[in-house]
Amino acid sequence: MKLSNIPNHVAIILDGNGRWAKKMGQPRSFGHYMGGRNLFTVAKAAEKLGIKKLSVYAFSTENWKRPADEVNYLMTKPIEMYHENKHRISDITYKITFAGRRDHFSKELLEVMEEIEEKTKANQGFELTVCIDYGAYDELLTAYEKAEKPLTKDSLEKALMVKEPVDLLIRTSGEMRLSNFLLWQVAYAEFYFTKVHWPAFNEKQLIKAIKNYQKRHRRFGGLSS
Ligand code: IPE
Ligand code: IPE
Ligand code: MG
Repeated sequence: MKLSNIPNHVAIILDGNGRWAKKMGQPRSFGHYMGGRNLFTVAKAAEKLGIKKLSVYAFSTENWKRPADEVNYLMTKPIEMYHENKHRISDITYKITFAGRRDHFSKELLEVMEEIEEKTKANQGFELTVCIDYGAYDELLTAYEKAEKPLTKDSLEKALMVKEPVDLLIRTSGEMRLSNFLLWQVAYAEFYFTKVHWPAFNEKQLIKAIKNYQKRHRRFGGLSS
């Protein structure tokens, strides 16, 4: 792997938890549980490879449409997992932030999110941004309102929840769509789609995606030299 051409900002649409669980003969919630744990494995691998920022799509503004028991699992299980593991938070060497709306969560979930952000904010080098109750339409509409006027590309970008342009966008589980993720930030991203379901996506898969990225010729509208 050429260490010289590692993408700065990688974004992943974490899809396929349900399909993975079905394949294993397990309920969808098991897929979400294993998918949640996998996030830390892949973040560690990304940090090691020299990626600077990893933004992951974990729950969209549209995912509230799902059955109440599934939404409830997704909104409560992370609280339980945090309380079981919080003695290990100082082992996390990178910064964790959250992007998305914050007005639909329980007080308990908000507290956990704020605690994670607080306890990791001094970590430098690599940042994991977990996008929950995130939708690009919502992000852009909010940014248009908040941005310093007159509106420019720079002033709008400063008002986004995720400010850095994406270099490599990965979507697991076979679907080839954005599902309202980072519409602005992927303007010049390279796209990589894999059939591997999110809970089975590991360091080897990430390296495969990066190797594929390294073969691309990014022109940004200009000509290749
Ligand atoms: C991704 O897995 C996680 C969330 C969107 C919360 P899915 O739950 O979408 O899994 P599939 O696509 O049904 O397999
Ligand atoms: C996209 O996955 C959102 C997340 C991974 C959080 P979905 O499973 O919700 O997307 P669609 O419904 O297949 O487009
Ligand atoms: Mg899905």
